[in-house]
Amino acid sequence: MTRTEGSRAVSEAQRRIEERLTEEVVASFAGAPDRRTRELMESFTRHLHAFIREVRLTEDEWKRAIDFLTAAGNITEEKRQEFILLSDVLGASMQTIAVNNEAYRDATESTVFGPFFVEDSPMVGNGGDIAAGAPGTPCWVEGTVCDTAGDPVPQARIEVWEADENGFYDVQYSDERVTGRGHLFSEIDGTFRFWGLTPTPYPIPHDGPVGELLAAVNRSPVRASHLHFMVSAENKRTLVTHIFVEGDPQLEVGDSVFGVKESLTKRFAEQPAGTPTPDGRDLDGSPWCKVRFDIVLAPAQVDSRGR
Ligand code: BEZ
Ligand code: FE
Repeated sequence: MTRTEGSRAVSEAQRRIEERLTEEVVASFAGAPDRRTRELMESFTRHLHAFIREVRLTEDEWKRAIDFLTAAGNITEEKRQEFILLSDVLGASMQTIAVNNEAYRDATESTVFGPFFVEDSPMVGNGGDIAAGAPGTPCWVEGTVCDTAGDPVPQARIEVWEADENGFYDVQYSDERVTGRGHLFSEIDGTFRFWGLTPTPYPIPHDGPVGELLAAVNRSPVRASHLHFMVSAENKRTLVTHIFVEGDPQLEVGDSVFGVKESLTKRFAEQPAGTPTPDGRDLDGSPWCKVRFDIVLAPAQVDSRGR
């Protein structure tokens, strides 16, 4: 008797051999002292074996997969994390975020963290400029941080980071520049404001194995234009998110890491050259942009199902 495994018919005897192996490997984790480790390894083994059997993985394909992972390991160093990129382009990062940040009332939605956050960013303060000389169109960003009851959250730490108009984060340059990043704290009434750059689309690093994978499947490495935020406050769930630019054509084409959410798409209103700025900053007659982002933080003790 034969059965279909994926696209190929497999004899009953062969099916039993394959299943026995899966069960043998699953059983090998029975003695794990940590229950969660056991659960993860057992489930991972079942899914991995099911995949191999379903697609009838060839030995050549298996070797190519090992070579791919080896190349990802070889290119990875302090400033380049190829495995995060792989997780991002496979949607695994966004799926993990979805599982762990279920919607809570009107709390602001989360999205992908990405590899370019750096600890100890400069403190720019309210009204400060995170661009620090990076090229791009100046953008005034303002908003409030509130809780889900609508009360202001003072002293929320707001970390922001972004690429310059050439599509690069500071850490992608070989010098030691610190640009396009900084932090500030919300005021007593929850308000915040700062200068940054109007976001532009840029490709995720695609000169390594993940880039080769995208090219092989005809996928673009380009991300929709965005500005990163991480907002933390006492007794609140830390929010990792971005805002996206309404009207950015890349929103239609698609974001290479599946990070776009409609609620995070904001109007970046273009201001013609010479328009007075909110804080009187002299922009030497260049055009600028402004955007409003009102942030709602969920309480810290919300569980993974948003309750
Ligand atoms: C980013 O937005 O910075 C990013 C996210 C995922 C992969 C690469 C970059
Ligand atoms: Fe980014």
